[in-house]
Amino acid sequence: MSKLIILSNRVSIPNGQKPAAGGLAVAIQDALDDIGGVWLGWNGEKVDTQDDVHFNILRKDNVEYITCPLTHNQYSDYYAGFANNTLWPAMHYRSDLIEYKSSEYEGYQQVNYLFAQKLAEIAQPEDTIWVHDYHFLSVAKYCRELGMQNKIGFFLHIPFAPLFIWQRIPCAQQLIEDLCQYDVVGLQTDKDQKVCMQVCTSLLKAQKIQQTLVSYHQRLTMIKCYPIGVNPAAIQKAAQQFIDVQDLFTRPVELNAAKTIIGVDRIDYSKGLLERFLSYAEFLEKYPEYQQHIQHLQIACPCRLEVPAYQRLFERFKIKIEMINQEFAQEDWQPVECIYDAMKHHHLMQIYRQADVCWISSIRDGMNLVAKEYIAAQNPSNPGVLILSKYAGAAEHMSEALLVDPTDKTAMVDTLKTALEMPRQERISRYKQLMKGLKDFDINDWRNAFLNDLQYKTSLQDFRFMGMRNVNPIYQNL
Ligand code: G6P
Repeated sequence: MSKLIILSNRVSIPNGQKPAAGGLAVAIQDALDDIGGVWLGWNGEKVDTQDDVHFNILRKDNVEYITCPLTHNQYSDYYAGFANNTLWPAMHYRSDLIEYKSSEYEGYQQVNYLFAQKLAEIAQPEDTIWVHDYHFLSVAKYCRELGMQNKIGFFLHIPFAPLFIWQRIPCAQQLIEDLCQYDVVGLQTDKDQKVCMQVCTSLLKAQKIQQTLVSYHQRLTMIKCYPIGVNPAAIQKAAQQFIDVQDLFTRPVELNAAKTIIGVDRIDYSKGLLERFLSYAEFLEKYPEYQQHIQHLQIACPCRLEVPAYQRLFERFKIKIEMINQEFAQEDWQPVECIYDAMKHHHLMQIYRQADVCWISSIRDGMNLVAKEYIAAQNPSNPGVLILSKYAGAAEHMSEALLVDPTDKTAMVDTLKTALEMPRQERISRYKQLMKGLKDFDINDWRNAFLNDLQYKTSLQDFRFMGMRNVNPIYQNL
């Protein structure tokens, strides 16, 4: 029987010591739980030499987890280097932060090859392979070189860089060629889909056959938008469990007495954290009557600290929080309470339910699953309000949130006021619309839509080898 094999850099290993921060790990777990399969990737550990890189297999329920450590060199070239110091800033339109080293690119290719080899070893010809995120743009190329004919799909969880940014990366042409070795390339938003299409046709002169199909060197690649979703029923269930939020924070948090704002972000320059806290300070200044009656809870996970841009941001962020607390704190009240660690997913859902406002201020974001999880966790009869950056992918389908430009301080302050004072009827009506959207295309729909296309696309490819004229007209119009 054919199986699904997923490859991603992060893997949520059962009983792993720390919950993985970021939406990808949660989403893949949700998508796999239902249908089972294999989840392959890095185990989060570093070892000294290549000889110490062994794959470990663990089975839980219907999922097999196959993971390995990386060497210190692989980690610094592939992960901290090319993936997070070249591709990440590029994909988030931060060309000022792009650093390129050919040795890091080589390390990236080496790790892509390592996992392609493992795929070649474990996959049967009828298995479907689904590769996730910017860490693995070149895996399909190596799989093809190793003789694999499997259906191989790729989903990018973050935005797609426009042409003028790719042109600043010396190996761009090669990477986009490698991307066209996948059968289906999935993007989070319609905008990213268009940008990706344009990059393929301009940089490679790939031929655009349909809105969602390009042909390059005899291979057809489907490039399509699949907005990732959540599992609303599971989130609602988790959120209803009572948790004493006091236990999670170091200082008392008065969720009942005060209005609370929740923010959950990795400490990443794409998340607009400094912009948000600047606006929050401005709000406290402008509306002093809120002082002592509001608290901003922030779960802020430091990450990628080997990359200088992340180190600098972490330092600036901590200083910013301290400054706000020093400026406004009163004897029994502190305006910001921050936890610098990842939190168990079900605890997060319980906190979401108790928070009056969720504030998302991304300057650029693939989707931002916090937006969707916050809504799914709400109490239908007394829901909170979502303030959502218009630059997050989620904004494309969540227009009933309060959409805001995070770089516009006045708009941020006004929107926070509107959120805090929104009448219950309006909150309920916005919540209903937003929840409908989440249910209409949930995490299973996302997975099924992608995998169905991967199945269908491959049959189209087969037809094409027989000559386009023989293709069923239904397919020609798609
Ligand atoms: C984003 C990326 C994921 C990544 C996550 C956490 O969501 O799209 O691929 O796993 O951030 O980042 P980290 O570098 O800690 O894996």
